[in-house]
Amino acid sequence: METRRIKVFDTTLRDGEQTPGVSLQTEEKIEIALALAKLNVDVIEAGFPIASPGDFDAVSQIAQRVKGPTIAGLARANQKDIETAGQAVKHSDRPRIHTFIATSDIHLEHKLKMSRNEVLARAEEAVRYAKSLVPDVEFSAEDASRSDWDYLCQVYAGVIAAGANVINVPDTVGYTTPDEFGRLILYIRQHVPNIDQAVISVHCHDDLGMAVANSLAAIKNGAEQVECTINGLGERAGNASLEELVMALNTRKEYYQAGTDIDTRQIYRTSRLVSTLTGIVVPPNKAVVGDNAFAHESGIHQHGMLNNSLTYEIMRPETIGISRNALVLGKHSGRHAFEERLRHLGYELGPERINSLFVKFKDLADRKKMVFDRDIEALVAEKTIEKPE
Ligand code: KIV
Ligand code: ZN
Repeated sequence: METRRIKVFDTTLRDGEQTPGVSLQTEEKIEIALALAKLNVDVIEAGFPIASPGDFDAVSQIAQRVKGPTIAGLARANQKDIETAGQAVKHSDRPRIHTFIATSDIHLEHKLKMSRNEVLARAEEAVRYAKSLVPDVEFSAEDASRSDWDYLCQVYAGVIAAGANVINVPDTVGYTTPDEFGRLILYIRQHVPNIDQAVISVHCHDDLGMAVANSLAAIKNGAEQVECTINGLGERAGNASLEELVMALNTRKEYYQAGTDIDTRQIYRTSRLVSTLTGIVVPPNKAVVGDNAFAHESGIHQHGMLNNSLTYEIMRPETIGISRNALVLGKHSGRHAFEERLRHLGYELGPERINSLFVKFKDLADRKKMVFDRDIEALVAEKTIEKPE
């Protein structure tokens, strides 16, 4: 069986940060970027450098400090945005400029007030300029899924000729369906004459709850890069969730004949880290990383699990970094067990911080019989979200 390697483009720090109510400090972004590098994502979209001096600074520091993945900065299709993104990512060993412009008639008429020919020319010009700054350029046709397919193919052909290495097909408003999106990817492969010179990427939003299914349908039809976020964070209903996409490919490898290079054992701790730093709680019934994802309540299920866990589990918790025999802590637990638990949850803390957390933990354990992971995360978050006086 031949397995195609699908590249994972993580946009937690850009589209994910556009989640209503989320705003990360530079140090927090760096912590997340380091965790993403450990997870072994292929690309980290570190931010939108023109958006604010803080965003520029975060992208630029991540480009300098995070090694391994490609570091991308987002830019609209204009010279100032592209130049700023180029400045922000230039210290990365693998810098990428990701430039975009909308291609759907509704966006052209009501937002850009440009004709199709003008947008085509602007897209080509943007890619040409970006390519003069960095060797790796991605082009996104915003609202691609609601664009005219032939016009969309014309734009992709134009930007590939101008030097785009990656062409991204966003379902910006989460409107498409798996069957339709799969057909669109196939259509692009068949109607863009120079498509072999670029990687096809997809970027799906979850407005109808189909972001992961749409991305998988795209992979089935030849997409080679998926854009996603930890815990499915993102604008409105969010983006395709990284953990769900990766584990769908991992669990159904033979069906998709595709896989990623993600170190799945880092998934759980990365999810918890992002949840703690963004303040967006993971629902207990969330696929893969929710508290209940591996919990078995009914007697029949528990009986089956005792005989063979595969009766009711399609993936093992260990695969995503949860140890099955993880101890529940209580008032008799010592500092060592507490420190182990912190490390397991993804926190690398100094001895002083651990000591002060341990005192709080003991106090909590006196009042509460069992201390769960979420209680420990809450203890850590208490400090993380405290503002300096
Ligand atoms: O959803 C979208 O269209 C985007 C683009 C900038 C890729 O986030
Ligand atoms: Zn998006």
